[in-house]
Amino acid sequence: MKKFWLSIFMLFAFVISTFATALPDEGMWLPMFVKRLNYVDMQKMGLHLTAEEIYSVNHSSLKDAIVGLASGSAPDGYFCTAEVVSDQGLLFTNHHCGFSSVQKHSSVEHDYITDGFWAMSKKEELKNPGLTASFLVRMEDVTSKIIPELSDTLSEADRSAKIKKLSKKLIKEAEEDGKYLVTVKSFFGGNEFYMFVYQTYKDVRLVGAPPSAIGKFGGDTDNWMWPRHTGDFTVFRIYSAPDGSPAEISDKNIPLKPKHHLPISNKSIKKNDFAMIWGYPGGTQRFLTSYGVNYNINDFAPIIIEVFGKKLEVWKKFMDADHNVKIKYASKYAGAANAWKLFIGQKRGLKKLKVYDKKLKIENDFTKWVNADEARKAKYGEALNYIKKGYEEVDKVINPLFFASLCGLRGAEITQYAQNFNQLHSLLKPKPKKRNKEAIKSTIEQLKSSIDKHFKDYYLPADRATLAALLQLYYNNIPKNDLPSVFNIIEKDFNNDFNAYANFVYENSIFATKDKITDFLTKPKYKVLDKDPAYKIVQSTFKSLMKYSKTYNLSMRTINKGNRLFIAGLREMNPDKVYCPDANSTMRLTYGKVLDYYPADAIHYNYFTTLKGVMEKEDPKNDEFIVPAKLKELYNKKDYGPYAENGVMHVCFLTNNDITGGNSGSPVINADGELMGLAFDGNWEAMSGDIAFEPELQRTICVDARYVLFIIDKYAGAKNLIDELDIVNETTSPAKANVELHPANVE
Ligand code: ARG
Repeated sequence: MKKFWLSIFMLFAFVISTFATALPDEGMWLPMFVKRLNYVDMQKMGLHLTAEEIYSVNHSSLKDAIVGLASGSAPDGYFCTAEVVSDQGLLFTNHHCGFSSVQKHSSVEHDYITDGFWAMSKKEELKNPGLTASFLVRMEDVTSKIIPELSDTLSEADRSAKIKKLSKKLIKEAEEDGKYLVTVKSFFGGNEFYMFVYQTYKDVRLVGAPPSAIGKFGGDTDNWMWPRHTGDFTVFRIYSAPDGSPAEISDKNIPLKPKHHLPISNKSIKKNDFAMIWGYPGGTQRFLTSYGVNYNINDFAPIIIEVFGKKLEVWKKFMDADHNVKIKYASKYAGAANAWKLFIGQKRGLKKLKVYDKKLKIENDFTKWVNADEARKAKYGEALNYIKKGYEEVDKVINPLFFASLCGLRGAEITQYAQNFNQLHSLLKPKPKKRNKEAIKSTIEQLKSSIDKHFKDYYLPADRATLAALLQLYYNNIPKNDLPSVFNIIEKDFNNDFNAYANFVYENSIFATKDKITDFLTKPKYKVLDKDPAYKIVQSTFKSLMKYSKTYNLSMRTINKGNRLFIAGLREMNPDKVYCPDANSTMRLTYGKVLDYYPADAIHYNYFTTLKGVMEKEDPKNDEFIVPAKLKELYNKKDYGPYAENGVMHVCFLTNNDITGGNSGSPVINADGELMGLAFDGNWEAMSGDIAFEPELQRTICVDARYVLFIIDKYAGAKNLIDELDIVNETTSPAKANVELHPANVE
């Protein structure tokens, strides 16, 4: 699952971090502790590797084949995971993780989104400025360097400031003058802290991607669902300086010689086979309280669903009408559609699986435990109260705050773009004490250099319609008194005709076209910027945002404090339980097995799908279900090379591993340390899994490594890549009885 939250939540300073108690199969474990906490269990489940082969700081181990992908957010966050699969730095990740790179290289003439892309030699590999690949060098428990410095009397704001200061010092020491990127992360709601040291490579090139009709087969209809038939993979390569160190993009760079790479399994995958998944899960909230569940269902999810739904509706009209727009908008559309469906599913799951009641029960037990002892009462007596009060306060501002952000500042691209000019605006203010000419010059240069990037995937008519639709939505949802001042203009001068207002903005704003903004930047004038209609929207909605974010931030601090106490209390209450920290974009390992499930009464879902299912789903009239002619031909001829099992081409499979957004592209590794597939999704019946893990229902959807090999080899003919891989074949032919071939799979 791809991590999309980052951008939404980065806006607000506080993230509620909670924790999870370990249930069977639940748990995104820190590799550093696997030897102590999980290794025996893993061995019992079938693992053949030693603990050192899994995680070692001094020797190469599995961890050295795992990569966090980021575009600007490393070392604090990774949007996807990738794994090294050759001794020349070749990487596998998901198609939807590589999609924005594929999209950036696409045009009507070279439509890699539709046709796929394959570099038949290293020279043809495509560079991706901004994309980075990070390896974890080591991690360290730094709790004892932070917690003792924090007195209980500190306010939450002072506590955060102190943690930041202490972390900064630790980071500085570990960076070794820029050799590493380092971050310190909070665990268990701020009760523990760990430091992570990374080596980050900045030259990551696109090597291959199947057409969307394979890599995104089933589209948004099948997204988040099983049975699935998607070849969700892309291939990249990491390049390093000639000495192996990270370097800026350059033709002098060479393919990375990695410390470890994963062999690829071409063996059959059977029910109950051991499976572990490594990667960078972005965030879970497993012990979110009933108050938090309520907030998600009634406040947060509905806003996202409504705003994203509106955006998608507007964009789709323009995308369907023009192939060029379809390419420009493909990546942002996919991201928004993915989040939109996630929140619909999460809201549904929270209700259907009665997560609120489950949380309430935990809280009642907690309260009983606290009240049984005076010392506990003094320590934890207020925990749930803080949380309750915090959410009551958040509730008062959430609507005006989120609409200001999602429909105002970040709604249309024109306002997102105009925000980049805030610094210039303040530097150009009339009558400063001292005019900082140097800063003005460098700000202008920087703004000039980002013009092309902004306008590359911008389409004025679609953005104009988005602005009109989102301002209308803002207006419809927020009481008049809470609306920013720009709505007075829309009422007075445009009679609340949002289309007319949007037309006015795009006709008059310097941000509307590349030419206008280029002109402006050759001789920037304060007045022009200050009076610009798009910039007016930014200024006005920003004021609103600031007004409500004060309450929001204060309340979030109260909630965080409550959570921290609640978590500490719960751990004290259950001293024998092994706790697993919530995901927070740090490297984790989850282990479990290949497994089917029963999604509803009388329905059984088998644990794998086959190419026959792709053919069954084919619908040439629906672009989500088009099957490429070449794939049909291979299917008809049963030309599967060495990748089929008993004459059947497997496509996807299920495991009961515990993953979330950020794990997309993660390797699914068998008992011998070989790649058996790539994780790419969660399932519809358990979409509330980030908040409450559902052992009976929750599954990870993976693309079978054999399907990946088949597409690279037989579909794309990229033998150059196949030759690079270490493919491990079956030593004996798979016993037919083991494979659970259903009559429906028989071709
Ligand atoms: N749901 C997947 C995730 O969050 C993304 C799947 C992408 N596929 C698609 N059809 N949009 O990682």
